Amino acid sequence: MRIVPCRAVGAEVKDIDLRDLSAEDERVLQESFADYGLLFFRDQALSELDHVKVSQIWGSININRFFKPHSDYAEIALVEKEPEQTVAIGEGWHTDHSYDVEPALGSMLVAKELPQTGGDTCFVSMYSAFDRLSEGLKRTLLGLEAVHSAKHVFGSAAQFVKNTASTNRIGQADLADDLLDSVHPMVIRHPLSGRPALYVNPGFTLRINGWNEAESRSLLDFLYEHAVQAEFVETFKWTPGSIAFWDNRATWHSAQNDYQGQRRIMHRTTINGSALEAFDLASARVR
Ligand code: SIN
Repeated sequence: MRIVPCRAVGAEVKDIDLRDLSAEDERVLQESFADYGLLFFRDQALSELDHVKVSQIWGSININRFFKPHSDYAEIALVEKEPEQTVAIGEGWHTDHSYDVEPALGSMLVAKELPQTGGDTCFVSMYSAFDRLSEGLKRTLLGLEAVHSAKHVFGSAAQFVKNTASTNRIGQADLADDLLDSVHPMVIRHPLSGRPALYVNPGFTLRINGWNEAESRSLLDFLYEHAVQAEFVETFKWTPGSIAFWDNRATWHSAQNDYQGQRRIMHRTTINGSALEAFDLASARVR
């Protein structure tokens, strides 16, 4: 197995067959996932059961409440876009499940049917986003929390629901409407690496806790623009057999919706995580 770092974030794991992993392979993969926060694999031939089993190396699988499940494997959520659909699941920068009290550890996306062109997925690092801030702003953020919600994305009022209802939704808008919003530190101590990571995202973060709308919007918009500067974006071009496995506490991702009229079918597992702790001010080593 070879781990080849990518230009901006993540690493590609080469010379590996995910169907046939030794205990040592699993250990190296876990270590690499903690180090890089994003792993890519190519030319894999995973069955649905293999996909579930590989995901379980990192923990239990979250049964998605909002996406259509695979007919035989409830652990696999279908990330589908049909030719007539205009909106894609996952377009726009976000990290999965930040609206949960215990946000997901990671998501493993397996390519099943790809468009002829387009449909890449872009990634950025939330470690780098934090590291690149000034010392003053870092210190300010270390004391803050933000509110995250699923309602505006999966709830009854969401545009997303209206545009994609026919093929990739399971009509759980009521469930999203009833979900309590979650509050998380804006800078977390990453559960695997111990490093500080910025933990807000354009998809699900509503506001900074205790700040008014205008104050919140200004700072969040600044952070969002800061995080996705072109040189920090890793673009993954999918090919048959490709897999991307991202840490939802260390990265954001965004599906490129640039293949109108074509089909794109992906299988996603999402691995349960734990409650997030604030990066400790006392032990913070900010430059
Ligand atoms: C997602 O956001 O989970 C889907 C990303 C993609 O389809 O590329």
